[in-house]
Amino acid sequence: MPGSVVRVMVCGSDNDHGSTWFGPMLPAPEDPESRPIATAETDDPQHFAERLISESFGYDVVLLLVDGRAGLQPETSRFAAIASVAGISQAIVAVLGDDQGAFESISRAFNALAPKLAFERITPIPLGLSEDGSATEVTWYSGPSLRQVLLAADEAQPLSESAEPAAADGLDARVVWTHETPLFRGRAYLLLLGGRTVTATVIDISTRLDPETLDEVSVRELAQGDIGRVSLSLTHPLDCHTYAENAELGGFLLVDRLTRKGVGAGFVTAIRARNADIVWHQLDVDKAARSLLKGQKPVVLWFTGLSGAGKSTIANLVEKRLHALGHHTMILDGDNVRHGLNRDLGFSEADRVENIRRIAEVSRLFVEAGLIVLVSFISPYRAERMLARDRVGESEFLEIFVDTPIGECRRRDPKGLYEKADSGLIRNFTGVDAPYEEPEEPEIRLRTLEGSAEALADEVVSALRLRGIIA
Ligand code: ADX
Repeated sequence: MPGSVVRVMVCGSDNDHGSTWFGPMLPAPEDPESRPIATAETDDPQHFAERLISESFGYDVVLLLVDGRAGLQPETSRFAAIASVAGISQAIVAVLGDDQGAFESISRAFNALAPKLAFERITPIPLGLSEDGSATEVTWYSGPSLRQVLLAADEAQPLSESAEPAAADGLDARVVWTHETPLFRGRAYLLLLGGRTVTATVIDISTRLDPETLDEVSVRELAQGDIGRVSLSLTHPLDCHTYAENAELGGFLLVDRLTRKGVGAGFVTAIRARNADIVWHQLDVDKAARSLLKGQKPVVLWFTGLSGAGKSTIANLVEKRLHALGHHTMILDGDNVRHGLNRDLGFSEADRVENIRRIAEVSRLFVEAGLIVLVSFISPYRAERMLARDRVGESEFLEIFVDTPIGECRRRDPKGLYEKADSGLIRNFTGVDAPYEEPEEPEIRLRTLEGSAEALADEVVSALRLRGIIA
């Protein structure tokens, strides 16, 4: 009696021949016991994860192709880990090449990983290769054939329709990171789930899977291809499930906010509702009241630019002018804040992301206090400047690009740091061996080659007048 369709995902980079490659070993449609078998292939674990999230159906079986000569490769473990996280209940390890010794050792190696995977059934099957490149059965093997195993596959569990999705403010998830720039704590991405898009900030990265052993190892960031445990906080509550409950409302894609490219795929493992014990306390004296008393509109003047571009010099002059005009100001400067609040941070990409995240939050508090806040940090990444703008609010955030060509910064080299970076004494130096992403549309661009610091400070003050921020 033909049963329901068996969906099989074939994983492995050695499947040039696609599904027809082992086609002769599949049950023929006229076979009375046959069930329709739908195969799909992937040769890339990251692509596999994205596919699982974006397709609306699940797979019953993952067929892992292993080249008998090469042995069990980390890539196969990655495929297996993703299939296991996605709740595929059955794995077939197809060992190619008519070699009993290789088959036995690969089966043993895979069985050693089995306790770390959630498969209900794992079946190793050896396959030979015929002259024309299609798979054949091997003589020395007496276990169940590929055909038998596929015909006996359990059907994927139907989704439980009854359970209501929960409104999540935060998620814990297994994330497969697909982008070459690592995933950092503090960075924000677009999260696409069930047809909705929200902004998600990475609040914690705890572990990644070691692809050799499938052990969870503590880490602070995820590199391309890593499968890790991540906690995210969402800007807006989102109705969702865990992936185990409902694949459609439990799987998501992460997208870069600037390039709009996919950067990761996630499987929700736990949902966190907003901590009901921490409610935003509505205070009677609010931002408007504090600003009114000071007779000013609060704003963040976010100076960004290379080291030595002149950010601090100009910010300092602007603050002096505003102070003389009777305004209440506060200045946050990279070099100074790194002596206190951000003393624990260095210059790796992850640390810079966290540096700017904290400064964005501090600026936001100062704006609440009704102040004009001058922020002077290299802030090399567009993503974090965008985060700062989001946290403060578009109408109270002015990005000021202190535009000095790197050649000029090197020539000035006020702290002798470019020289040190060139000689290798300092690593990850912005503009030398770490990137600076120029603002595309800053509210104000100060070309320091074309005007003195004094003149540029006047320009900023005039711009504030023009925008009605100061009288
Ligand atoms: S940011 O990139 O995280 O925004 P931040 O503005 O806080 O940098 O700090 C930059 C200052 O730290 C520079 O002006 C320079 O004096 C000092 N510094 C020390 N090491 C580095 C480095 N590797 N890259 C850039 N600046 C560095």
